[in-house]
Amino acid sequence: MRRLVTRVMRASVGAVKDAKSVLAGGGLVAFPTETVYGLGADATNDAAVAKLYAVKERPSFNPLIAHVADLAAAQKLAVFDEAALRLARAFWPGPLTLVLRKAPHCPVGLLATAGLDTIAVRVPDHAVAQEILAAFGKPVVAPSANRSGEVSPTTAQHVLHDLRDRIELLINDGPAPLGIESTIVACVGPPVLLRPGAISREALEKVVGHAIAAPAPAAHGHHERHEHKGHGHHPAPAAPGMLRSHYAPRTPLRLDATDVAPTEALLAFGSEAPRGAAHAVATLNLSPRGDLVEAAANLFAQLRNLDTEGATAIAVAPIPAHGIGEAINDRLRHAAAPREDAAEHDEG
Ligand code: TXA
Ligand code: MG
Repeated sequence: MRRLVTRVMRASVGAVKDAKSVLAGGGLVAFPTETVYGLGADATNDAAVAKLYAVKERPSFNPLIAHVADLAAAQKLAVFDEAALRLARAFWPGPLTLVLRKAPHCPVGLLATAGLDTIAVRVPDHAVAQEILAAFGKPVVAPSANRSGEVSPTTAQHVLHDLRDRIELLINDGPAPLGIESTIVACVGPPVLLRPGAISREALEKVVGHAIAAPAPAAHGHHERHEHKGHGHHPAPAAPGMLRSHYAPRTPLRLDATDVAPTEALLAFGSEAPRGAAHAVATLNLSPRGDLVEAAANLFAQLRNLDTEGATAIAVAPIPAHGIGEAINDRLRHAAAPREDAAEHDEG
């Protein structure tokens, strides 16, 4: 593999052009927003998004925020109800992220939203971020540009410390003005404050005209490992079926399967076929050549696909636990967990 050297550029017209071509080529660009530095990838390119998760070393696939230039662009990705429209008009561009139902023809891939039917969208209020989004013309997913376990970077130096020679380009425009992440509000039913942030609850409530609930404490037993505690990774629903924190197919999953029953579907990995594979109801392979980044890019789409086969179970071949394999295994374990709370999982 070609050795990657991160280019660092000061914000300029040329830097924006280069950011656009790196994104278009499926690469990663760290750039400033008004809250913190983000690590951007083409939201419509699952392979680029898989690379982003791998570089961040996230042990699980947390859904990402899709950044766009304006409300009109956001409306191509998500369904806005009355409250969402009010909030967007009041605070965009600005440090507000809205979690909304995905629009029917949303071009953002399943990996970016971690298989969910909702999507987080945000219009940042920063000249460099705005110029990149306008130039690129497609949504850009951008988690905070830190490695998992580190705090969000507010300077280019922080980004380099975590990600040097792991990303193609870093645009330095000095410290991020706000230094704290965006406030996240879900508008999928009554508004819910998922992550406190740069915009106060009071300011939000003034705009929607009533109190905004925080998510109820997690109703179910298992907890995802969080990058930071209390950051809305676990949006337990305030109303049944409103939100859920991870994707789960209807068909039961059987993990680490080394054989397949004739009534089962097979989610394979690598070139070795498990016993009975020839008679499986259906087979998809996450990566025939055993590439974990490719497997991550295919994971949610292939699970959804096999979920429609009417199989008694989806047998999932063992996936190596190293690198991004840890995140793949984490998501598979969540998807395989028994449904303690059916209401939480009843969205398609
Ligand atoms: O200020 C910010 O929001 C920064 C800048 C770069 O824009 N971005 C940021 O992204 O903080 P990240 O990935 O570090 O945090 C996004 C949070 C995660 O906690 C994730 O679980 C949550 O948003 N999130 C994203 N999509 C979601 C969804 N569909 N439902 C619930 N939570 C979601
Ligand atoms: Mg973060």
